[in-house]
Amino acid sequence: MTLPESPPATHAVRPVPEVTSTPAPLLRVRGLSVSYAPPGKGTHLGTGAALRDADLEVRPSEIVGIVGETGSGKTTLARATVGLVAPAAGSIEFAGEDIGGLRGRARRAFRRSGQVQLVFQDPLRSLDPDLTVTDLVREPLDIAGVLSRTEREQRVAESLRLVGLDPDAVAERRPRHLSGGQRQRVSLARAVATRPRLLFCDEPVSALDVSNRNLVLNLLDQLRAELDLAVVIIAHDLSSLAGIADRVAVFYRGRIVEQGPIREVLGDPAHPYTALLTASAPSIGDEERLDPARLRPTGDTPAWPADLGCVFAHRCPFAHDACADQPASPTLPHAPQRRAACHDAAAWRERLDQPSPQKESA
Ligand SMILES: Nc1ncnc2c1ncn2[C@@H]1O[C@H](COP(=O)(O)OP(=O)(O)O)[C@@H](O)[C@H]1O
Ligand code: SF4
Ligand SMILES: [Mg+2]
Repeated sequence: MTLPESPPATHAVRPVPEVTSTPAPLLRVRGLSVSYAPPGKGTHLGTGAALRDADLEVRPSEIVGIVGETGSGKTTLARATVGLVAPAAGSIEFAGEDIGGLRGRARRAFRRSGQVQLVFQDPLRSLDPDLTVTDLVREPLDIAGVLSRTEREQRVAESLRLVGLDPDAVAERRPRHLSGGQRQRVSLARAVATRPRLLFCDEPVSALDVSNRNLVLNLLDQLRAELDLAVVIIAHDLSSLAGIADRVAVFYRGRIVEQGPIREVLGDPAHPYTALLTASAPSIGDEERLDPARLRPTGDTPAWPADLGCVFAHRCPFAHDACADQPASPTLPHAPQRRAACHDAAAWRERLDQPSPQKESA
């Protein structure tokens, strides 16, 4: 995928104001579980649940990264938050309002308001090929039923400029006549047209090379600053989030196994799965690297039934009897902003400091 050669329009990045206390969360997700199983087909939250017992908060104007393997429930969390799928359990509060419990007309009205927007993973498939760029960006405003006709036209042009596109050059084009990067920018312009307070971007950089990745990530940071927007960026790998996210949540098999300020999580992972991700990532910061080989099962790891206890037990070299019970995700005693779903959060590191069997025998 290529991006337009011209750099995005530059916008002064607003300095982050000093805060003396933590602002109230804009989004507060508690115990959220989602199952795609049709109603009446067995247990609602059996092994088929796509997301289980997720707790997550997003504060105004912050960037939260979500990382995890394919199928770990990242998109499901985004879809549940924008109201595309109903939760099986748990709550979703947005700006203090219970939006997870909205049904029928109330849910449709919330979706139409455009306060929370989702940019889908594949811009080509998510943009109607028959609409022009102007129609595509204006559509959410038409649906929301806000602003006069003239104001909508102005908002469309403003939104295109915000994402670094020249309205005169692209307004009448259709998606197939745009480059991949331009389509992605149109998706973003469409998402911010209603001036949402929260934006989910589903894998916005997975298909891009490193330089284009940085262009898109910088653009998201500019949008955050210009529009006072909280952004949740879903990604496959931690390294693309390292330079931009304030906090990160690590997903594994439908559960959030660790979350916290990204520098702390990367520098000192508390969950063995996060440690494996950071050790395997190409280069993140200058922290001391763990040896990935020490974080893989040794062969002595007990065999675990698929849906029993800790979701990572089948791959965890530190698994022990207590791991047959599902760990809670408490805050870490030494870091109240961090949480990890591991019976031995961080204590497993002590075992890494012991010499490996290979070194002992050398
Ligand atoms: N529309 C759907 N119908 C049935 N199962 C689904 C649907 N969407 C996702 N799933 C399943 O839910 C789980 C989580 O998927 P998803 O949230 O898309 O993961 P991710 O975004 O992390 O790749 C996967 O097992 C996936 O197969
Ligand atoms: S709870 Fe047990 S199996 Fe799960 S990550 Fe922690 S040590 Fe490993
Ligand atoms: Mg996904």
